[in-house]
Amino acid sequence: MKENTLVIVMVGLPARGKSTIASRLKEDLRRDGIRTRIFNNGDLRRRLKRLDTSSPEFYDPQNREGTGIREKIALTNIRRAERFLRNGGRIAILDATNVSRNRRKTIAALLKDFALLFVECINEDREILEASIERKIALPEFAPMGRAEALESFLRRIAYYETIYAPLSEERNFVRLDSLYNRILEEEISEPLPYYDRLRDLLVSDSVKNLYLVRHGETFFNLEDRIGGDSPLTPRGREQAEALGAFFSNKRIPMIFTSTKKRTIQTAEPIMRRQEHAAIIPLREFDEIDSGDCECMSYGEIRNRMPEVYEARKRDKFNYVYPNGEGYVTMKTRIDRGIKKALYLSGNADHIMIVGHRAVNRMILSHFLYRRQEDVPYIYIPQHKFYHIVATQDRKQFRLRSFAPRKAVEMP
Ligand code: F6P
Repeated sequence: MKENTLVIVMVGLPARGKSTIASRLKEDLRRDGIRTRIFNNGDLRRRLKRLDTSSPEFYDPQNREGTGIREKIALTNIRRAERFLRNGGRIAILDATNVSRNRRKTIAALLKDFALLFVECINEDREILEASIERKIALPEFAPMGRAEALESFLRRIAYYETIYAPLSEERNFVRLDSLYNRILEEEISEPLPYYDRLRDLLVSDSVKNLYLVRHGETFFNLEDRIGGDSPLTPRGREQAEALGAFFSNKRIPMIFTSTKKRTIQTAEPIMRRQEHAAIIPLREFDEIDSGDCECMSYGEIRNRMPEVYEARKRDKFNYVYPNGEGYVTMKTRIDRGIKKALYLSGNADHIMIVGHRAVNRMILSHFLYRRQEDVPYIYIPQHKFYHIVATQDRKQFRLRSFAPRKAVEMP
């Protein structure tokens, strides 16, 4: 056995987050000074220029030609990984579906001189899969097809892989991972593995390189101190959105997550316009707290007409739930899900942005930065500043930053 070397074999159907996890591992391990390289079968396949690999039949296990080519690609990467490890490399990551037992046996046989860890990525959340597939079919590989054709082709590709999919069970060292929630579902480690403690920790932690947490600009409801509803931005709110767009124009932000409300989407639009390629992705998980019977009322009206609501909320704002609505306490699950969704969909992007609301942004912030529950509903969320969050294993940073000259856009 060659000491202090490891092969990580990614396993999972397409669009399950394997490559995102592989590249995150690589970045963190390299930062630790551990020479790590990814060997990705898809990249190699796409480089074989004259080959049309976008058609689903290419992935049909009964198609001899397609199978032959894919096996050859896998072998090339196995050999390259071996060479890398024999020449001073420490960790080789084989990034491919590797869903059949046969393929995994081949890998184990050819790389028997090295310790092996199999990591299976599992995510059966329909909605997230669909969004993630949408992202895949935007790749140049599918450019010649229309959206519907590309979607159908990709789904059929997945179906072919499903016919040969054998979940991990017999391998000596493996982890089965819920790749959406970063949770280990099953773990079998039969021998001491180099770097395992570090790797395990990386697999289960949320990681975000730069998250810009922005609140929507001023709305007509804000002017009257009204809550909830779906009010659009005021001219000053639009000005704030333009200032945000200008501020972020020199950063590459491929995805801007918003709620489904007008005010967050209108705030995101000028930001998107200043980017070369960016998409606005509205997630209802980021909709503002539902104030139920109090929707669209002002705080003054609630105090006068529903004093019991006003008082009870004042007593315990975190746990108070609006009649027929939500409270901070009941928002937690959906907000966590929204964050996971945004992180999953943005892959390993360097910069991501969420344009949210006051209560929503408090909950998002407290997801990354510990706050006592009773303090969460009072976190300062202004409209003329944003939070810059870095939360990786090695760095935690939370900065409240201005995006425009104070006078022009500051809210009272
Ligand atoms: O901007 C107003 C608002 O986003 C309301 O829609 C929401 O109910 C409120 O802020 C949340 O803040 P708090 O919990 O402090 O009332």
